[in-house]
Amino acid sequence: MRIEPAASLRGGLAVPGDKSISHRALLLAALADGESEITGFGPSEDTLATADALRACGVALDLDGETVHVAGAGLRGLRPPTGPIDCRNAGTLMRLLPGILAGQEGRFELVGDESLSRRPLERVALPLREMGARVETTDGHAPLVVEGGPLQPIRYELPVASAQVKSAVLLAGLLAEGGPTAVVEPTPTRDHTERLLEAAGARVRRSPGEPAVWPAERLHPLSLEIPGDFSSAAPFIAAATLLAGSELRLHGVGVNPTRIGLLTVLERMGARVSLFNRRAMGGEPVADLAVTHAELTATEVRASEIPLLVDELPLMALLAGMARGETVVRGAGELRHKESDRLETLKSVLRPLGVRVSTTGDDLRVRGVPTRPRGGGAVDAAGDHRMAILGAIAGLVSREGVDIQGAESVAVSFPDFFPLLDSVALR
Ligand code: S3P
Repeated sequence: MRIEPAASLRGGLAVPGDKSISHRALLLAALADGESEITGFGPSEDTLATADALRACGVALDLDGETVHVAGAGLRGLRPPTGPIDCRNAGTLMRLLPGILAGQEGRFELVGDESLSRRPLERVALPLREMGARVETTDGHAPLVVEGGPLQPIRYELPVASAQVKSAVLLAGLLAEGGPTAVVEPTPTRDHTERLLEAAGARVRRSPGEPAVWPAERLHPLSLEIPGDFSSAAPFIAAATLLAGSELRLHGVGVNPTRIGLLTVLERMGARVSLFNRRAMGGEPVADLAVTHAELTATEVRASEIPLLVDELPLMALLAGMARGETVVRGAGELRHKESDRLETLKSVLRPLGVRVSTTGDDLRVRGVPTRPRGGGAVDAAGDHRMAILGAIAGLVSREGVDIQGAESVAVSFPDFFPLLDSVALR
């Protein structure tokens, strides 16, 4: 895929429904008593993997564009399929589903694609075993086998700040017997599971730092509209900030405080992003965003901020590359466990284009130069959707453009990314 440089981004657009919420909405709707209606669903390879996984477990699910109807099977109504459940590239599915399966009857095997099979799973298996489930990984990776049974509540201290692990434990807590299951977070992570559990009628304590859920007898079906995905808005925010003359509006974007760390950091750097028409949608805060071009200055990103912009850190490196001064991002080691080792991939994508980025241990350093990077040549997205998107935005703001190898991987989270980018890029 060839990306030509753009002069600016102008106009308005709406990004697809939030991927994290789309996965969770399907999973909880599958456990409800009755039929759920979900609108604003973000169809992508990842979220469709969740839909297919649930179908394989006997859940009737009707998907029509961005609207999904799910006939809930009840809290313990999932059935083991005859073969393995294929989570494909979807880390959220591979981490959250075992939490639910831990409370079902039977033996479930989960497999994933090559990239997902390299990602750590013991972090989920450990707490679920502590609750009484039988969970086996393959040397810490997929394939993973869960045999459910009676679960006891726990208070689990997360060794790493991970919303996926937190969610798996809370979902299992819903199916436990007795008191509440609590998760102690080293720093707050996205809280969509807690919000959706509440929407489905579960008793939840939604405190950042130590959320908890009580065992439920049943869940109510959901009637839910999913907001736009902030992580899909982020590349447009980055490009409009970096390109002189840009004026861009993004409609109906989820602005949950546990997701918009990029805005906090960008504000420190001098960016001009304003939020208006604030409203609530499906228990989540939503706003329209207006982004205009701004000159940026370097900043320091603290380790405690990382979970709030974990998927936006690669874009942060590009933004810092065009800011005045040296930016340091501390404690970004979790990036090594994403769809690729993103600390390495972001260097191999950005360096050839002229962005001066380096790593020392788990810290990321960027020496910013407030001009367009050179660009030119080709970069390899390493099969990682967020790296293909990073390469595209880097090419767009560069002087010579770029060829992206593996651009088709954007379909994992954002199938319409390239046409949407074309619709607002002035060349
Ligand atoms: C996600 C949580 C994050 C994020 C991933 C989606 C989620 O992972 O990187 O893209 O939906 O819970 P971790 O919780 O493992 O950091």
